Amino acid sequence: MTQRVLRLGTMLHGAAGNMSAWRHPAAVADASINLNYAIEVAQKAEQGKLDFLFVADGLFINEKSIPHFLNRFEPLTLLSALAGVTQHIGLVGTVSTSYSEPFTVARQFASLDHLSGGRAGWNVVTSPLEGSAKNFSRQQHPEHALRYRIADEYLQVVKGLWDSWEEDAFVRDKASGTFFDASKMHALHHHGDFFQVQGPLNIGRTPQGRPVIFQAGASEDGRALAAKHADAIFTHHASQAEAADFYRDVKQQLEKQCRRPDSLHIFQGVSVIVGDDAEDVERQYQQTAALVSIEDALNYLGRFFDHHDFSQYALDAPFPALGELGQNSFRSTTDEIKRRAQAQGQSLRQAALEAATPRPLFHGTPEQVADGLEAWFHGRAADGFIIQGGTPDTFPRFVDRVVPLLQQRGLSRRDYPGATLRASFALDTPLNRYRHAVTGAPL
Ligand SMILES: Cc1cc2nc3c(=O)[nH]c(=O)nc-3n(C[C@H](O)[C@H](O)[C@H](O)COP(=O)(O)O)c2cc1C
Repeated sequence: MTQRVLRLGTMLHGAAGNMSAWRHPAAVADASINLNYAIEVAQKAEQGKLDFLFVADGLFINEKSIPHFLNRFEPLTLLSALAGVTQHIGLVGTVSTSYSEPFTVARQFASLDHLSGGRAGWNVVTSPLEGSAKNFSRQQHPEHALRYRIADEYLQVVKGLWDSWEEDAFVRDKASGTFFDASKMHALHHHGDFFQVQGPLNIGRTPQGRPVIFQAGASEDGRALAAKHADAIFTHHASQAEAADFYRDVKQQLEKQCRRPDSLHIFQGVSVIVGDDAEDVERQYQQTAALVSIEDALNYLGRFFDHHDFSQYALDAPFPALGELGQNSFRSTTDEIKRRAQAQGQSLRQAALEAATPRPLFHGTPEQVADGLEAWFHGRAADGFIIQGGTPDTFPRFVDRVVPLLQQRGLSRRDYPGATLRASFALDTPLNRYRHAVTGAPL
């Protein structure tokens, strides 16, 4: 049996830390819109042989949104710029299936895959915020279950479009004047409930066969979508036991889809603080947590519930009963916030501060942080981690001091195994569905 490799990514998420971290003395205040800053993080990540950079995204803001959301790069544009200044690292960007067209998105990610020599990844999301509809000429935001039905068909279309051309379709034979082999070009002719797409796509098969597909969304529907279509999941859990339950469930669902357990990697997004000793870690945490006012924290909490106004409730009374609120936005996250508040008897103040300034799960000396990651990895709570710095200067410290320990312990790689993100993830290159068909019909 081949040894499992602990894989790592990092979030490009502005100044890092909490939503007021831009005020931290060490923060680059305009990090969300500063290309040089993004390049620095990307190059540091490559120095640590991290597998990928991850860019989250959203489509609706208001005056209560966190600073990073107010003024940030569109993910594919940023990743295309980073493709030119990096060599090995995967480039994963978030695009919503509820507010885009499959043809456009298939083309954009295929382009990023070509531009980067096979390092593109798409984080598929369904968009949690109702207000997004108003930015896309829609009357209504699709409800949760419908969003996932759309996403399923959307992924079928995009994967179909990525098979438009066989690998060797473009012969470009100057002597005969043959640019392409017509038998290796395939139209899709998709007629579904939500999309009508003829194809073919106007860009050839990509270096990875198709870009790596991530999925973020942890409800039942979200897990089912991932088990059917994704190569990786981005998720968050507050404890190893919860993460292990999630891990077990998703891997079982893969089996039902006749997929191998190692054909989908589960990444826990984790916040980290690395210090010299417990006192140093506590000082770092307090310094960044103190930047967040209770008003900021209520707004932060409110966004998960589709920008619900929590200032209407008493701060120190028990967490309010919210009924179905949150079911049509960040459902899995809001379910968890309500469950925890109930189980722990939290007040609104406690719940808001816990959401906005959580004490990083992995904090301590480099050894302690490495021990924590190792325990989750060996305990089958994660295949890897997306590192979010708990303070603006955590990430370089993580690369310099924690990554070497993970490498010494034989958990992480010391070098990239190949040129593509698929190679880093040890994933098979998907076969073009038309590849072995004599008639040109899909297999
Ligand atoms: C860990 C995690 C990360 C997410 N990241 C994004 C994101 O970057 N952009 C976005 O529009 N939605 C994001 N979502 C929202 C989902 O795509 C989805 O719209 C919403 O959470 C409902 O799905 P769920 O109930 O299955 O979690 C994320 C959800 C989770 C759980």
